[in-house]
Amino acid sequence: MNIILIGAPGSGKGTQSRMFIEKYNFVQLSTGDLLRAAIAQKTELGLMAQSYMDQGKLVPDEVMIGLVDGYMTSQAGKSVIFDGFPRTVAQADSLNAMLNKRASKIDKVVYFKINPQILVKRLTGRRTCSKCGEIYHIETKPSSKGHLCEKCGGSLTQRPDDREEVISERLAQFEKSTGPTIEFYRKNGSLAEIDSEQDPEVVFKQITKILDLA
Ligand code: AP5
Repeated sequence: MNIILIGAPGSGKGTQSRMFIEKYNFVQLSTGDLLRAAIAQKTELGLMAQSYMDQGKLVPDEVMIGLVDGYMTSQAGKSVIFDGFPRTVAQADSLNAMLNKRASKIDKVVYFKINPQILVKRLTGRRTCSKCGEIYHIETKPSSKGHLCEKCGGSLTQRPDDREEVISERLAQFEKSTGPTIEFYRKNGSLAEIDSEQDPEVVFKQITKILDLA
């Protein structure tokens, strides 16, 4: 089974992806995480992507499509949660072609609906473990170990693109490019909507029901 989690920055896609891979047999393809790893390793891709990400802009489609194609080859035969891809209609078209080539398909696209006013608070308060990627929030999900991760002891950091001035550009990009992508999936009948303002456990149960997982 392949699923896409689609929604605005901070709507909870990463949080839910982690909950799913803990309980079910999925691998997570987070294009944001792949790009941040490339930046940390100072690869050619990372150096190029950083200038876009620091401004809250989207990395060009051809770069993202090549990255995802490579990842899918390395994860052949596994059930994938696409987190942060596709974000444009061109990426959605390419993903269909990549899956067709592998005799596979998207089973469901889950759209995380949320009031944009909530997102700034979620993003400015987010902290992420630099070692295992666990996601926290200084108010709603603080670590019991302070600045360290409860799961692995890694240090918690704030993403450079979680500053208010960058967040507004990320939200604008979401409206402009990902809005039409959501409509693309609504038209082809694979879209299901969830209310992502609810508690993470409630959101998780709703997605589980949509996917018909026990
Ligand atoms: P990416 O890393 O994909 O970021 P994003 O899509 O903006 O999404 P986020 O990771 O910010 O949010 P999320 O929805 O995962 O929320 P989370 O669960 O962490 O992309 C970053 C950049 O990379 C892009 O701007 C672009 O430059 C580039 N990029 C990536 N993919 C690309 C692509 N395909 N094409 C082009 N460029 C690309 O939660 C956020 C906070 O809220 C946390 O603190 C969490 O604890 C809290 N929270 C979560 N759920 C709940 C809940 N239900 N209730 C209360 N709080 C909650």
